Amino acid sequence: MEFKILVETRRSCRAFTDTPVSQEEIEAIVRAGQWAPSPLNQQPFQFIAVTAPEVKAGIRQAGISARQAVADQDGPGWAQKYGMDFLESCPLILVVVSDPAQGGLGAYFNQPHGALQAASACIQNMMLMAEDLGLGSLWFTFFDPEEIKILLDIPGDLEVAGAVLMGTPAGPAKAPPRRTPKVHENRFTP
Ligand SMILES: Cc1cc2nc3c(=O)[nH]c(=O)nc-3n(C[C@H](O)[C@H](O)[C@H](O)COP(=O)(O)O)c2cc1C
Repeated sequence: MEFKILVETRRSCRAFTDTPVSQEEIEAIVRAGQWAPSPLNQQPFQFIAVTAPEVKAGIRQAGISARQAVADQDGPGWAQKYGMDFLESCPLILVVVSDPAQGGLGAYFNQPHGALQAASACIQNMMLMAEDLGLGSLWFTFFDPEEIKILLDIPGDLEVAGAVLMGTPAGPAKAPPRRTPKVHENRFTP
């Protein structure tokens, strides 16, 4: 797909069919992620491919707990209407973890998030590759990462950049509009 069209047609997908994502598609998606830029090219990310129903159910449970935490702390009421069923119906969840110790030199000069920034670029590459393959995707973070780490046996020193849902879209997704880009000239202006 032409790049401009690819970028503009990718949508967050929250309804999937049960068609599995093939091994070839998974490999193409994670390879695209691996080509993301990273500080010192340390490529601080790793992937966990979740297909087991009981693990997907655990991720959904973490989502439900996070939703409850929003309610308990008087967060926005609309969050309680956010359904989580798609976490179990989507065929694949690629959890992306990053190693904060592999974030380049930034820790020496007040930029400690290099690994997470790289993992974010990695996730965007993955989602664009999924789109190019005709798959829908969703970058999902509505959970306490510590709960996900326990569920997936992720070592304590790694961070969870996101759970990326992938699969065949069950229908068209809404296209939230974009604002006009705000570009300042030379200096930030109010
Ligand atoms: C870091 C990050 C975290 C996100 N977490 C969630 C999430 O937990 N649940 C969800 O439904 N969407 C999540 N999204 C998707 C956004 O809601 C979505 O990208 C935005 O509304 C724009 O829609 P679009 O992706 O279709 O253009 C997340 C996006 C990003 C970049």
